[in-house]
Amino acid sequence: DRSIKIAPSILSADFANFGQEIRAIEAQGADWVHVDVMDGHFVPNITFGPPAVKAFRPHVSTVMDVHLMIAPVDPYIDAFAEAGSDIITAHLEAGPHIHRTLQAIRAAGCKAGLSLNPGTGLEDVAYLLDLVDMVLVMTVNPGFGGQKFIASQVDKVRRLRQMIGDRPIHIQVDGGITPETAPLVAKAGADVLVAGSAVFKGGSVENPAPYGENIRAI
Ligand code: DX5
Ligand code: ZN
Repeated sequence: DRSIKIAPSILSADFANFGQEIRAIEAQGADWVHVDVMDGHFVPNITFGPPAVKAFRPHVSTVMDVHLMIAPVDPYIDAFAEAGSDIITAHLEAGPHIHRTLQAIRAAGCKAGLSLNPGTGLEDVAYLLDLVDMVLVMTVNPGFGGQKFIASQVDKVRRLRQMIGDRPIHIQVDGGITPETAPLVAKAGADVLVAGSAVFKGGSVENPAPYGENIRAI
């Protein structure tokens, strides 16, 4: 099923009202909830960890899509799985043993995602396709919302879609996705679009109506 799913990133949500914001984006059409975990080491920003993900869980009725921008990953997989993650995505660049990390994510009972930074090629992905349910192609350098889309990644999405063939593997794109850039990545073969600033712009927890308009515009 290659219908396009929209996964708003709560990195752009109101950090004082995550429960309400999660319920609002789901009520307004979000297919998944994208949770950006940052450790201030793998990326130059810090967000939240397993206790926060556990607190989000009761408010998520769709899919809790947890994007780990952390290194190392392995010591925290069980905590994020127990916190209620449906999908756990790790960065290929986060350490020397991504093969083992992906095996550990599935062993913990979660779907496994592999994320590639803009500078990372597809060569290594070939040896990991049997271990993943999703490949996340970063279209910005990770760490912040509201950054500019890196157009060179469209070709990576296209070539990745060819590599995947008819395997049941999602291609997720993340960073700078707007109504202008979404068609480019969808046409290239992405089927899950993460958007933070493009979804939350112009709305608030008191006035969530723009969230729905923004989701539909993508
Ligand atoms: C960046 C995160 C993205 C980010 C997307 O490190 O992984 O999910 O929140 O934000 P926008 O859509 O505003 O680029
Ligand atoms: Zn993300």
